[in-house]
Amino acid sequence: MIHPILRMGDPRLLRVARPVERFDTEELHALVSDMFETMEAANGAGLAAPQIGVDLRLVIFGYGQSAVRGDRSPVPPTVLINPTLTPLGEAIEEGWEGCLSVPGMRGIVARVARLRYEGFDQFGGRIVRDVEGFHARVVQHECDHLDGILYPMRITDFTQFGYVEELGFGQIPDD
Ligand code: NI
Repeated sequence: MIHPILRMGDPRLLRVARPVERFDTEELHALVSDMFETMEAANGAGLAAPQIGVDLRLVIFGYGQSAVRGDRSPVPPTVLINPTLTPLGEAIEEGWEGCLSVPGMRGIVARVARLRYEGFDQFGGRIVRDVEGFHARVVQHECDHLDGILYPMRITDFTQFGYVEELGFGQIPDD
């Protein structure tokens, strides 16, 4: 089932979400399936449970290589529950971000360039991955949602924040 995506200004996006306590339940599988359906319908690269009003520490992400998204390496569909992120090294990278909860806009955000993410899938299986580039950016963006942080809160240079059409991005979908 496709859910409406909450937009910036909705107080539910500002909550610190609760950890998932039970894995491999019918309820959790239904939530994950709904989230993928919702993300794909919105053409997003990631989605966090709070964005559909569900107060749980669960994010999904994944995307293929596409002309629209430039040269980003594909990331397989991933479910990441109760995540922890650990920076690998000191490097910081600036890059454009968008958000399904802030439709039609883009801004430059500084993020850790390389990190390790750990957590669980919907079956309770352990996930550990070391990633960089856009993959690392998406994970940080999605996990921020679990702490009530939207990417505009991380922008430092507001001269590089605006509407997709005015910034000349053309038809890049929201992330
Ligand atoms: Ni977002």
